[in-house]
Amino acid sequence: MTKPVYILNGPNLNMLGSRETEIYGSQTLEDISSLCTAKAQALGLSIDFRQTNDEGELVNQVQEARENASAIILNAAAYTHTSVALHDALAMADVPIIEVHLSNVYKREEFRHKSFVSPVAQGVICGFGAQGYELALDAARKLI
Ligand code: DQA
Repeated sequence: MTKPVYILNGPNLNMLGSRETEIYGSQTLEDISSLCTAKAQALGLSIDFRQTNDEGELVNQVQEARENASAIILNAAAYTHTSVALHDALAMADVPIIEVHLSNVYKREEFRHKSFVSPVAQGVICGFGAQGYELALDAARKLI
């Protein structure tokens, strides 16, 4: 059986639904998880959907994905713009990596234009809200 696609979510994404809804929309992370489960099922994939507020834990999850995942879909949230540790963990993960952001980070503050994830990702999907996760699963299906 194919290994699951890890869908990893970083800090503050557990607050979706009530957090800056004009930017991130009204869907909760649980809603997004359900969307991903349905989409994955339609594509014949399995997923492991997680969220953490902790940078070290996110690094641990990426290291685990190296062994146990067929691909990584990653919304590293604020750590995208700050984390060399995450970049290094992703650089040694020998599986396709798809970077996702709900918002179009390039339309926002300049500090969001820098990503430590993009240089080690296959591609980036941003600005399409929760649909970005479904698009990422489509991409993962092709890459696996
Ligand atoms: C985000 C964009 C990041 O800049 C921000 O820190 C987030 C969410 C997004 O999904 O649009 O927390 O990754």
